[in-house]
Amino acid sequence: SRRPSIYYRPINPNDLDRLEKIHRDIFPIKYESEFFQSVVNGVGIVSWAAVDRNRPGGYSDELIGFVTAKFVLAKESEIDDLICYGSSQGEETLIYILTLGVVETYRNHGIAMSLINGVIRYASGLSSCRGVYLHVIAYNNPAIRLYNRLMFRCVRRLKGFYLIKRQHFDAFLFVYFVNGS
Ligand code: ACO
Repeated sequence: SRRPSIYYRPINPNDLDRLEKIHRDIFPIKYESEFFQSVVNGVGIVSWAAVDRNRPGGYSDELIGFVTAKFVLAKESEIDDLICYGSSQGEETLIYILTLGVVETYRNHGIAMSLINGVIRYASGLSSCRGVYLHVIAYNNPAIRLYNRLMFRCVRRLKGFYLIKRQHFDAFLFVYFVNGS
């Protein structure tokens, strides 16, 4: 079989159906079609896709992984208390990761790690940005290992944060501080 050749690019409107399908397949939470529209049109959302340039059958540009995120004002975020405020007059921002996923056949190749590193690099390049943060459901060990390996800090356990099929689950809140925060 061919060796995968992973390439990272922005998400665009042609990715809509595939993006929706992967979210449906791998997340226990339902996302509204507005969310996917915002992602592919880049409205208030930043995102990156992974594709396999060597994938046969005309699928060399089809998403095999993605990360989606949005900007949040630090002072309006739930980690307001953890931010070092400087000279930016309260304009400090954070990047909140909404979803991260890699299709099953492409897991354990470091693709999620590269996607998150891309977000960290992007955040570090924005002088007003103080960090990258996210929630992860407490039983998701692969994702928790990933964030620990990337040196995110687990700063909170939120009791009953997720409601899935009428059952509550705790979440961990992970933060990666950038630009001296
Ligand atoms: N060779 C061998 N192993 C490797 C290589 C490599 N080249 N690169 C990385 N690995 C290992 C890592 O060390 C890691 O091992 P570990 O789990 O034993 O610690 C493992 O592969 C996974 O790391 P990655 O490859 O970087 O991650 P992957 O691309 O497999 O994606 C993810 C991880 C996103 C959690 C995936 O399992 C997934 O899509 N799960 C379902 C959706 C999900 O849970 N998303 C995250 C929810 S949290 C949120 O969205 C904010």
